[in-house]
Amino acid sequence: MTDHVYNLLKKHHSVRKFKSEPVPDDHIERMVEAGQSASTSSYLQTYSIVGVRDPKIKEDLQEVSGQPYVVDNGYLLVFVLDYYRHSIINEDTEENMETSFESAEGLLVGSIDVALVAQNIAATAEDMGYGIVYLGSLRNDVARVKEVLNLPDYTFPLFGMALGVPADDEAGSPKPRLPLDHVFHLDQYNTDKEQQRKAIESYDQTVSDYYNQRTNGQRTEKWSTQISNFMSSKQRLDMLNHLNNAGFIKR
Ligand SMILES: Cc1cc2nc3c(=O)[nH]c(=O)nc-3n(C[C@H](O)[C@H](O)[C@H](O)COP(=O)(O)O)c2cc1C
Repeated sequence: MTDHVYNLLKKHHSVRKFKSEPVPDDHIERMVEAGQSASTSSYLQTYSIVGVRDPKIKEDLQEVSGQPYVVDNGYLLVFVLDYYRHSIINEDTEENMETSFESAEGLLVGSIDVALVAQNIAATAEDMGYGIVYLGSLRNDVARVKEVLNLPDYTFPLFGMALGVPADDEAGSPKPRLPLDHVFHLDQYNTDKEQQRKAIESYDQTVSDYYNQRTNGQRTEKWSTQISNFMSSKQRLDMLNHLNNAGFIKR
């Protein structure tokens, strides 16, 4: 047993400031190859990855996201849930496959596959010395992203990933996660609310201390405050429509 993968994963933090040097194509290919080795439900491989180098396309996507690092990075990847190739197989067969990829189960299966590929790519990139940040902000305007990237029916842009060499003054650090015994349940889920509340309270303190220390007292918010602020603001409630338009969750 070695500590290499464990130490690599424990070091992760999102990087939002990159040097301008581009990530070479052979490095991107290596990452994507490693991504493709992820397990895939029933061998379906329900993903495509669009690599974006063209500054104009990056700018168009940055307008959707509102985040500067969609343009200022060494490379941009967009992760697409992709049943387009399965729909082509469907056209050429007597069988009816639509019930599968138009179902809620199809959406779950496909999205899980995309996330597994992406996280393999993230870990490989970090192992190669690059920093990464995921970009759910591309879902701010799904129709525009589909137009910019020429995405067909039965595809859906789930998220992006900006990557590159971290800037010299990039000062991120690993953010504390929930305590292990709060997320890991032995044999059966522990529904005890009092225990859950105590664990949240203690984690709130950990997160508040983390922000306090990192920002010299500028930020001290608790995790639960951050989460309740975020989750009580209405987030992208047009998603079901976009999914239906793309051919998903019809049954
Ligand atoms: C699917 C997904 C989408 C995300 N979208 C964004 C985003 O649009 N912009 C951003 O700055 N960070 C984004 N993040 C990064 C998270 O904010 C970050 O992972 C989280 O705060 C934990 O911080 P860490 O990655 O530094 O540990 C996203 C992360 C994931 C997994």
